[in-house]
Amino acid sequence: MGKDVIVACDFASAEQTFAFLDQFTGRKPFVKIGMELFYAEGPAVVRALKARGHKIFLDLKLHDIPNTVKKSMAVLSSLDVDIVNLHAGGTVNMMKAALEGLTRPDGTRPLLIAVTMLTSTDQESMENDLLIKEPIADVVLHYAKNAKKAGLDGVVCSPLEAGKVHEVCGNDFLTVTPGVRFADGDKGDQKRVMTPAEANRIGSDYIVVGRPITAAADPVAAYERCMKEFGANNN
Ligand code: C5P
Repeated sequence: MGKDVIVACDFASAEQTFAFLDQFTGRKPFVKIGMELFYAEGPAVVRALKARGHKIFLDLKLHDIPNTVKKSMAVLSSLDVDIVNLHAGGTVNMMKAALEGLTRPDGTRPLLIAVTMLTSTDQESMENDLLIKEPIADVVLHYAKNAKKAGLDGVVCSPLEAGKVHEVCGNDFLTVTPGVRFADGDKGDQKRVMTPAEANRIGSDYIVVGRPITAAADPVAAYERCMKEFGANNN
């Protein structure tokens, strides 16, 4: 797998998701399915998207005791998705257990990436609610290092953090980055954004793009523009 644009299919139903994807008659976009759609439709929507030929990032952000995460990851692995994720805050032991659960008897497995600190958490809430007193940038890098230590393939992070993560964890440690907007586009509720070209320059491996594509007047054209600006290859 290489550099690619992942379309965040933040739709409430399978029907809406398929109607959106039916517009793509050429390339099959790599898609992200989150909790909303998965909880509404269950594994059937994953199987259906796989059967339609899409690569899938299943964004369920697991976080539980290691044994539960291990067993749950084994179930997700059997769905034949391409990327799954968890919270690095679940500790190195939880991440190691996840990796074990994800690995199939033949040794293959989906890529496993970690959420470090959610971008909705800021320094103040981290200090007051979680009693973590270090600077948030250091916490993000520490969690990324823990993910690497556990054997994971990369992290979800802001494109602004991608360069530093690569510096600390190596260039082959994947950075999957949301918060991407076209230079002439609407930012929506995202505060710290980058264009696809900037995300490319800073070294993001995958960009996760939702509304700039899903809410565009011409989603296929917006997707193709994103692919081109990011220099993606959709392999
Ligand atoms: O529509 P938009 O491009 O903002 O969608 C970005 C996607 O990436 C959404 O599915 C959102 O939940 C997800 N995401 C994010 N910021 C994070 C982690 C995930 O925007 N820090």
